[in-house]
Amino acid sequence: MIVVKGVRRIGKSSLVRVGLRLHGVKLYAVFDARTVPLLTSDTVYEVVARGLEELLRRSGGLGRHLRELLARVEGLSVAGFEVRVTRRSPDLVLRVVEALDKAAEATGEHMVLVFDEAQDMAVVPGFARLLAHIYDYHQRVKLVLAGSEVGLLDRLLGRGNPRAPLYGRPYLEIEMPRLSREESLGFLEQGFTELGLEWPRAYMEEAVDRLDGIPGWLTAYGYYAYATGSHREALERVLEEGASLVQAELERFLANRLQARTRYLALLECLAAGPLTWSELKTCLETRIARSLNKAQFTRYLRELRDYSFVEKAGREYRLADPLIRYVLRRMRT
Ligand SMILES: Nc1ncnc2c1ncn2[C@@H]1O[C@H](COP(=O)(O)OP(=O)(O)OP(=O)(O)O)[C@@H](O)[C@H]1O
Ligand SMILES: [Mg+2]
Repeated sequence: MIVVKGVRRIGKSSLVRVGLRLHGVKLYAVFDARTVPLLTSDTVYEVVARGLEELLRRSGGLGRHLRELLARVEGLSVAGFEVRVTRRSPDLVLRVVEALDKAAEATGEHMVLVFDEAQDMAVVPGFARLLAHIYDYHQRVKLVLAGSEVGLLDRLLGRGNPRAPLYGRPYLEIEMPRLSREESLGFLEQGFTELGLEWPRAYMEEAVDRLDGIPGWLTAYGYYAYATGSHREALERVLEEGASLVQAELERFLANRLQARTRYLALLECLAAGPLTWSELKTCLETRIARSLNKAQFTRYLRELRDYSFVEKAGREYRLADPLIRYVLRRMRT
């Protein structure tokens, strides 16, 4: 099992797909929790169907055999490249995995199952147990989990919890760091060179200062710069559109935490000015909300924000995991 972790837009999904392609892996299916607006035990079947459709479309000569195997799965209907779940049941996914294992067996290859934003799938009862079952009993099936809500992913993996289904099963962890300043500049420069554009160094520096080493934002900046020919406009568009996305994510997080909303926002505001140590952050929050918090309360707020990857720890300090959170806070203030 391989686990790919990293903040949003860092390039996890790209890394997984590029890695599979470079290794010539033919049999792989990607189940992406973000295929549906909200993952629940109902919509998860939609995710499964879409993942299988993509696998069928990609599998060329192997497709026929694969289609036959999948068509035989009870509760699944396959017509051409279209896959539908006709009867929802908790065993359906297990039967699909068995069919995919058989397909792999026939070719002597591995079948790689990618669960993207895997932490979201933890809401589906039995998901962790299913993964443990695949891990233990389907040797040909290899698992790749990717996710941005790092704390939730750890929980799914059962880190530190002997009662969790996946506890104690070794896996390879790939943690994707941000690009350094130099790497970010090199990344933009290479992109502009490929496009045959001479782009002033000072523009690229400003973009990196504002967007940090997050490939997704840098790519978007490069694209808008190419499309509009204007540095200012490109930067503004990334910040605007990016902030909308991040704001939606933050609002979703806060929607389930109405009581402490002000506290979470105040904590993020503290970090908007720059990284802080644990005790600096606690003091800052207490000042902002004008009351003192006990250690357990404060720790809980901080842990939640880290679990959902709004905040990350760098050395001894805590900082905003995404530079765009700063813009979001500014927008929410006005
Ligand atoms: N190494 C890279 N080279 C070029 N472009 C990249 C690279 N890594 C990521 N990108 C681009 O950055 C964007 C974000 O990447 P990707 O979707 O893989 O990130 P992610 O971590 O899966 O994001 P999310 O958390 O939103 O799912 C994509 O448009 C992708 O094409
Ligand atoms: Mg992704």
